[in-house]
Amino acid sequence: MKKKILVTGGTGYIGSHTVVELQAAGYEVVIVDNLSNSNENVLDGIENISGIRPVFEKLDCNDKEGLYTLFQTYQGIQGIIHFAASKAVGESVHKPLLYYRNNIVTLLNLLDLMPEFQVKGIVFSSSCTVYGQPDILPVTEDAPVKPALSPYGNTKQINEEIIRDAIYAGLPFKSIILRYFNPIGAHPSAEIGELPNGVPQNLVPFVTQTAIGIRKELSVFGDDYDTPDGSCIRDYINVVDLAKAHVIAMDRMLEDKSDKKLEVFNLGTGRGVSVLELINAFEKGTGVKVPYKIVGRREGDIEKVWANPEHANKVLGWTAHETVEDTVVTAWNWQKKLSK
Ligand SMILES: NC(=O)c1ccc[n+]([C@@H]2O[C@H](COP(=O)([O-])OP(=O)(O)OC[C@H]3O[C@@H](n4cnc5c(N)ncnc54)[C@H](O)[C@@H]3O)[C@@H](O)[C@H]2O)c1
Repeated sequence: MKKKILVTGGTGYIGSHTVVELQAAGYEVVIVDNLSNSNENVLDGIENISGIRPVFEKLDCNDKEGLYTLFQTYQGIQGIIHFAASKAVGESVHKPLLYYRNNIVTLLNLLDLMPEFQVKGIVFSSSCTVYGQPDILPVTEDAPVKPALSPYGNTKQINEEIIRDAIYAGLPFKSIILRYFNPIGAHPSAEIGELPNGVPQNLVPFVTQTAIGIRKELSVFGDDYDTPDGSCIRDYINVVDLAKAHVIAMDRMLEDKSDKKLEVFNLGTGRGVSVLELINAFEKGTGVKVPYKIVGRREGDIEKVWANPEHANKVLGWTAHETVEDTVVTAWNWQKKLSK
C-alpha cells in the first residue's frame, strides 16, 4: 500500500517540486496550503508532470482544529514535510509578529497532533541562514548557530530548538531538519517553478524578470566584498535536486534506516558562486543579456556562504547533480512560460 504523506505548503515553490518527486517514488500525497504565497493552478502543473493530482485542502496550519479534522479525514498519514512558512526576510523585519506566529504556531500545531495520529516523522525546512556568516567555509552542520539577523532567521532557529526539545522530551516521532542553501531553477518540464509575489526577493527570479523585460535593471548589492569579484557568494542548489533529498529523508524516517531520532543535514552543492558569476552563467546559457548596475550593499546580507554537503552525501546517499549553468536555463524556460 502507498504510504500517505502530508505536505504543508505543498503548492509553494519547493513544496510543489517535492510533491512531484514523492509521487514518482510511490507516496500518496495530501497537500495543505492556505495559498497565501501560491496558487491552486500549481496542482495542474503537478498533475501534468506526474499524471497524478494530489489531494489538496486549502487550510491554514495555524488552524489547529482544521488540522485535527484533516488528520481524521485522511487516516494513516505516516509522515509530514513542513514547508508552510512565511519566508521574506525583509518583510519579517517589518512584521515580526506575523512571522513568529506563522512560522512557529504552525509547527507547534503539527507536533502536538503527531502523537495522537501516530505520525512517525517530520521533515523540517530550515535554512543556511542559521549559520549567519560562518567563520569556516565550507560550512558543516557542526558550525555554531549565530545570532539571527532577522525575525525570519530567528524563526528557523527557534523551530529547530522546538523540534530538538520535543525529541529530547521523548515525544514519539522522528525528525530530519534540512538546512537548504539557495534553491533556484524550475522543473525541466517548465510546468512548475518559482512564483514570486510582487518584487522578487531572490536573485534568480529577479534575473529572469529583468531578462524578459518585466524589470528594467537588476541591482547587484555591493562589489566591494572580500570575494574574488567583490560580489556576494552563495551555494545555489537546483530545486529538483533539493526536492529529491526530501524523498530520501522521508524514506529514512519511515523505514527506520537510522536509530537516531533527530538528524540535521546541509543541502547544498559545496560550490560557491558569486552574484556576478551567476549573471554571467545566465547570459551564457540563454544568450540573453541582463542589464544590471552595481549599487551599495544591502543591509543584512551575508558576504559568502557555501555548504560542506559531505554529511548528506555520505549518510543520505544524496548529492546535488545539476550545475548552476543548466539550472538557470530551467528558470528561464519557466519565466518564458509564465510570460506567455
Ligand atoms: N526558497 C528559499 O530560498 C528557501 C531557503 C531556505 C529555506 N526555505 C524554507 O523552505 C520552505 C518552503 O519555501 P518556498 O521557497 O517553497 O516558499 P513558498 O512561499 O513558495 O512556499 C510556502 C508555501 O506555504 C504556504 N503557507 C504559508 N503559510 C501557511 C500557513 N500558515 N498554512 C498553510 N500554508 C501556508 C504558502 O502559501 C506557500 O504555498 C519555507 O519554510 C522556507 O522558509 C526556503
